[in-house]
Amino acid sequence: MNRRDRLIARARQGYRLAFSKEPARFFAAPGRVNLIGEHVDYNGGFVLPCAMNRETIVALSPAAEIGGQAFIEAVAIDRGQAKDRFALHEPIEKTTDHWQNLLRGVVFFLKERGGEVLPARLAIAGDLPIGAGLSSSASFAVGIATALAKHSRLRLDPVDIAQIAQDAENHFLGTQCGIMDQMASAAGEADSALLLDCRSLEHMPIPVAKTLSLVIIDSGIRRELAASAFNDRRKECEAAAAHFGVASLRDLTSEALEAGRQGLSNKAYARARHVVSEIARVEPVATALVTGDTAALAQLMRASHVSLRDDFEVSLPQVDRLVDVVAAALGSGPGAMGGVRMTGAGFGGCCVALVRSDEAERVIDAVENDYNPLADIPASAEVYSLTGGAREVTPDQ
Ligand code: GLA
Repeated sequence: MNRRDRLIARARQGYRLAFSKEPARFFAAPGRVNLIGEHVDYNGGFVLPCAMNRETIVALSPAAEIGGQAFIEAVAIDRGQAKDRFALHEPIEKTTDHWQNLLRGVVFFLKERGGEVLPARLAIAGDLPIGAGLSSSASFAVGIATALAKHSRLRLDPVDIAQIAQDAENHFLGTQCGIMDQMASAAGEADSALLLDCRSLEHMPIPVAKTLSLVIIDSGIRRELAASAFNDRRKECEAAAAHFGVASLRDLTSEALEAGRQGLSNKAYARARHVVSEIARVEPVATALVTGDTAALAQLMRASHVSLRDDFEVSLPQVDRLVDVVAAALGSGPGAMGGVRMTGAGFGGCCVALVRSDEAERVIDAVENDYNPLADIPASAEVYSLTGGAREVTPDQ
């Protein structure tokens, strides 16, 4: 059985255990890894994430109304088969539970934007590590939104689905995330990265050269302070934009950044410099992905990491060392075999490497033989594939 079939079997079994019936339909929503454009989405800039082959599966069947009342009933298989149940025609209340709030938020915003949500029973299972920076939460929300939208025959496109999932995170969980993760999960395309303008939400697939492989390195460090630090960074960026008199840092040129820095603290200047320089790296990385230019990837990803480390201050010493070890194995200059950097919100989580396919093993070896022997927490590296966005799936697909 392949990975997806095992996950579907798990969702099916969880559904049966909870509701004593077989589910009728299955939906899949992938996680994402960001290739370049970090901490740029909430500044209205360009990002280049891709959907990858770890995902959330939602098993669903229509539910009958009970005593004239329509309900959503759900079981979260990976959270000890925890359940939730709420009426669709009454105000949707928040609970104290993270996953219930995400579910409830999705249903709330589906109703607001899409129309009537039909009663359903859901069982949700996933194979994305939680807190590793691979968007398990966006994939969960996009999976539920896709499943319930299809079930309720709502006319919503992937952008609507992504916005609904983001609204659920922002308003039901209080995380001030941007839209990158949800867009990658909803609108990703196979073998491609997604070049996304986070202001207009215009997006296009960027086909990745067949000569390149995607390696994700999990530092094993789980992000704990990430949510508060994330919200702080966002406020700092907004304050810097206000200083320069622009709607968001996307509108700031590097000339205007230098010319107008008087009166700005060094920290605020550094935050703005990261965003401006990172946005400028996005298109060159897209070009390097298409042509398979590993020397350019090495240089651009290095610059991104240094900027996140020094100007945006979202890395950790262990993650810096991991990146340095892998970068040393890949080489630099015209002969570089690929690039590596931290990815996602930061403070632990994962690093991403884009490397010549015949050198992917080199990354795995470097992590196991050069980094792990000296690390308190071992890291692990694996080759992933770039997949399509959320959709209905059939068990033998
Ligand atoms: C998290 C957020 C995204 C984005 C990244 C940093 O993943 O959810 O919206 O801001 O961090 O690039």
